[in-house]
Amino acid sequence: MKRLVIDPVTRIEGHAKISLFLDDAGKLADAKFHVTEFRGFEAFCVGRPLWEMPSLTGRTCGICPVSHVLAAAKAGDEILAVKLPETALKLRRLMNLGQLIQSHALSFFHLSSPDFLLGFDSDPAKRNVFGLMDVEPELARRGIRLRKFGQDIIAKLGGQKIHPAWAVPGGVRQGLSEEHRLELLEALPEAQETTFLALELFKTLLDKFPEEVASFGNFPSLFLGLVTPEGLWEHHDGLIRVVDETGALVADKLEPADYLDYIGEASHNHSYLKSPYYRPNVAEGEAITPESAGLYRVGPLARLNICNRIGTPLADKELTEFRERFGRVALSSFQYHYARLIEILACTEAVALHLQDPKITDTRVRAQAGINVLRGVGVSEAPRGTLFHDYHVDENGLITKVNMIIATGQNNLAMNRTVKQIAQTFIKGPDIAEGILNRIEAGARAFDPCLSCSTHAIGQMPMQVELFSAQGELLKRLERN
Ligand code: MG
Ligand code: NI
Repeated sequence: MKRLVIDPVTRIEGHAKISLFLDDAGKLADAKFHVTEFRGFEAFCVGRPLWEMPSLTGRTCGICPVSHVLAAAKAGDEILAVKLPETALKLRRLMNLGQLIQSHALSFFHLSSPDFLLGFDSDPAKRNVFGLMDVEPELARRGIRLRKFGQDIIAKLGGQKIHPAWAVPGGVRQGLSEEHRLELLEALPEAQETTFLALELFKTLLDKFPEEVASFGNFPSLFLGLVTPEGLWEHHDGLIRVVDETGALVADKLEPADYLDYIGEASHNHSYLKSPYYRPNVAEGEAITPESAGLYRVGPLARLNICNRIGTPLADKELTEFRERFGRVALSSFQYHYARLIEILACTEAVALHLQDPKITDTRVRAQAGINVLRGVGVSEAPRGTLFHDYHVDENGLITKVNMIIATGQNNLAMNRTVKQIAQTFIKGPDIAEGILNRIEAGARAFDPCLSCSTHAIGQMPMQVELFSAQGELLKRLERN
């Protein structure tokens, strides 16, 4: 069997490798997406005080610290068994909206749009944000400013951009000043305008990539995420819903804290990244593969697929059009990009509502209490999907056990199936063009995997694609940064 490894898969945050295996005829035999760093972060947390968990887990990831801080604070709320002040909850939600906007803007404008605008087969030296600056300077500039708008929300609330350990068990450390509220309101129209420009652009580009839309992780699966009790789009609270490829409810109103009842975590020897699966669809002892009936997807596409509607007018209009194009449930992972843009729009509408809420500048933002319950589960929608933090503590509030299920892990099976589907579609023989390797990498990148977070490795690391012959000889390696 020949082996082709795409390593590093570039423009993905963290370190991972895609291995492609050819058979004797030079056709694709197998493809694997695997992650190679591991630091044992969960074990590292044992013995730490509960109150340190937001800042500690915020440091698990240089890419999405805010998501971990919020999930950790929520798990802490459960252990304190307090009712969060109303404004604290609103401010945390506002922080999460800022995180969604900045992360989605980075994914779309910096990491993925060069492929759409310059082409998957274009010169790899120019297929990046600098190349984008040359051909679409206005769009590139606007993308940077949109991301900055999200970062500003985080900074004005948390006081700093990186590791804002601002959310704590019981609430948040500080409120939003009137001055900062007005500054954010002022920046909002441009953010919304940029989102509309990107949406219109993406819609015109879709017709140019029929093969990619058809092969970038285009398969039936389950979709999982949070919705409100009424079934609307949700990003921070609510209940877990699971739908199938037709949009039919597989499970609804599941308590996030009961996640162990419906989510299993499989380990694979080719990757340190665990593969969570939907437990009820898998028999006891059954092997978990990318073809498993337990495979589910999380993240922007899943959140749009599971909700009845979003609940704000501009985003709902876009969701209606999205469903007219792809059906009640969009199955191609290529549409993660489209879903990200609709979510940015939804976030800007939600940000506007929060900023106009007279309670948002209230200064009562933290409930104080001691340890009242010995276990707490905090669940929130991170940009890449549902994030679970599960803590056990002793009577003194010291951590005795931690389990975290991160979004990128939950998409692990789907990313494996995606890279294989793209490789099967495009690889016709052993002579493989760079543009094909780029497509395989871009298929994984559609999920915007946070490898920093999934492996608990600090900072950013690249990803590679390697191609191996039937004899195990390395034929080609793709590495870009
Ligand atoms: Mg875990
Ligand atoms: Ni992360």
